[in-house]
Amino acid sequence: MSSRAARLLATSLILAVVATASGGTESVEEFVRRHWRGPLAPQGPAPARFSLLEASLRPESCGTCHPAQYADWRTSWHAAATGPGVMGQLVEMFESDPTSALGCLGCHAPLSEQSPLIRSTGRLAANPAFDPALHREGLPCAGCHVRGHQRFGPPRRDGSLASAGAPEALPHGGVTRTPAFLSAAFCRGCHQFAEDAPTLNGKPLENTYREWEASRFAREGVQCQDCHMPDRRHLWRGIHDVDMVRSGLSIDVAAPRSRAGAGDNVDVGLTVRSVRVGHAFPTYVTPKVVLRAELVDATGAVIEGSREERVIAREIALDLSREISDTRLLPGQSATLRYRRKLPAAGISARLSVVVYPDAFYTGFYEVLLRQGAGRGAAQIREALEATRRSPFEVFRRVVPLSRGPS
Ligand code: HEC
Ligand code: HEC
Ligand code: HEC
Ligand code: HEC
Ligand code: HEC
Repeated sequence: MSSRAARLLATSLILAVVATASGGTESVEEFVRRHWRGPLAPQGPAPARFSLLEASLRPESCGTCHPAQYADWRTSWHAAATGPGVMGQLVEMFESDPTSALGCLGCHAPLSEQSPLIRSTGRLAANPAFDPALHREGLPCAGCHVRGHQRFGPPRRDGSLASAGAPEALPHGGVTRTPAFLSAAFCRGCHQFAEDAPTLNGKPLENTYREWEASRFAREGVQCQDCHMPDRRHLWRGIHDVDMVRSGLSIDVAAPRSRAGAGDNVDVGLTVRSVRVGHAFPTYVTPKVVLRAELVDATGAVIEGSREERVIAREIALDLSREISDTRLLPGQSATLRYRRKLPAAGISARLSVVVYPDAFYTGFYEVLLRQGAGRGAAQIREALEATRRSPFEVFRRVVPLSRGPS
């Protein structure tokens, strides 16, 4: 059975219900709500029979016995969720507005042990279980897999839930398997702002789960994991990865059949269609995708003033106060750049490209933040700003000769 088929079987047939430790059953929805109820509770003391390695919440400890997942996770944005762009903002925020800072950690570093502060009887206090090393590990393995030192994970690949032996005999007391790990609902808590979150033009700033829910992918049972964790890999590639972006799109060029002479009109089309993106392309407000057409001469130099662009993005004001435009593509939708020009000379071609700026919003945002003063976070924000300037890439480029004769 293909892993996709196994997954569908696991999610739909056996398993609208999960066996719980008490022997009762609960739905995927109930599991997800309990598992992700925030802020996450401290793990508490580990069972006495646990070795130090089994008791550790550090990702590299899990990696000792789960090297494949660890190697993948290390390269992922989840591992980088406490990067300089986040931490550079948090240093000052922990002083000026600690409640909001804790809100950020809820998604970016969700374990209680990752937080320097903890809510205790309504007030914020120093967290006795704080682990400063874990603080910088972003979304660690244990954030998704461990509650009260108990391991949770997906069903086996054949769909079964049973353990290989008595829990006491297994490393970390075995694992409680639940199909909730195969469900898009598992990702919802951090990839969908709550119902009561403020909206811009009727949509919350982050709306990925709802976009997915309204798409044909949800109707066909294709979950976030099917696209973002194929073969159970822990890479979570997205808008920053050229192959991932390509996998979701079909890109076509419509060019004139015959060549033209100087002074003739030409008409070229560049079309991007969202064919396998499970939500709006792109889903978040920070990336920008540009369809670009320009004329180049025989040496490849761009003819001045010939560039035209069409933007695919949800653009919002830097202070998050309003939506400027929303030209994103819902699943199945397409955008075309029609490029009509009079050919200025002989030997001319059209250069068509699709360029992704994964962090377009942040470039402007960090510039303003630095101008206003980022305090002790300034060095990290500068580092994050430089990273946003390096992140753009081309997903498509084609040069179409337009002129008669040598070009
Ligand atoms: C000492 C080695 C060891 C350490 C350390 C360890 N594990 Fe495991 N883990 C295992 C073994 C062996 C299994 C297989 C148990 C079984 O088949 O039921 C397992 C199973 C799992 C599973 C279920 C995998 C499956 O096949 O479906 C998950 C999830 C898991 N571990 C997560 C973690 C996390 C998260 C950590 C760190 C917080 C961790 N483990 C640390 C040895 C370890
Ligand atoms: C505890 C919160 C949390 C959960 C649960 C979570 N994510 Fe994330 N995810 C994040 C955060 C935070 C980031 C951004 C990390 C960063 O770059 O700072 C992120 C980033 C990503 C990205 C990369 C986006 C990019 O820029 O390319 C993908 C893809 C993704 N998550 C998919 C998933 C999927 C699929 C699931 C469910 C299996 C999931 N996430 C569960 C918090 C979470
Ligand atoms: C509901 C979960 C959630 C909360 C709360 C949240 N974020 Fe994020 N954040 C995300 C996700 C998911 C991404 C990745 C966006 C994407 O690509 O969809 C992200 C991306 C980012 C990024 C860009 C990636 C990077 O690492 O540089 C920054 C910076 C950031 N968040 C800062 C913050 C700050 C500061 C706060 C608190 C004021 C915050 N976030 C609160 C989920 C959250
Ligand atoms: C964002 C949440 C998240 C994080 C972080 C995460 N995992 Fe997972 N893990 C999952 C999900 C979801 C699955 C099931 C994926 C599927 O079946 O498509 C899974 C599956 C697994 C499995 C079973 C693999 C198999 O082949 O059956 C193991 C083992 C595991 N994870 C260990 C780890 C370890 C170790 C880390 C850290 C290095 C880690 N996970 C980090 C969500 C997470
Ligand atoms: C049919 C495949 C598919 C499904 C299902 C899917 N995605 Fe994606 N996702 C993609 C592709 C392709 C990209 C890269 C293009 C893009 O960024 O939109 C992407 C990008 C992303 C990004 C990068 C940020 C951005 O602005 O685009 C995040 C975060 C993300 N997905 C989360 C999710 C979550 C959470 C779910 C489930 C609710 C999900 N995805 C379901 C294919 C899918």
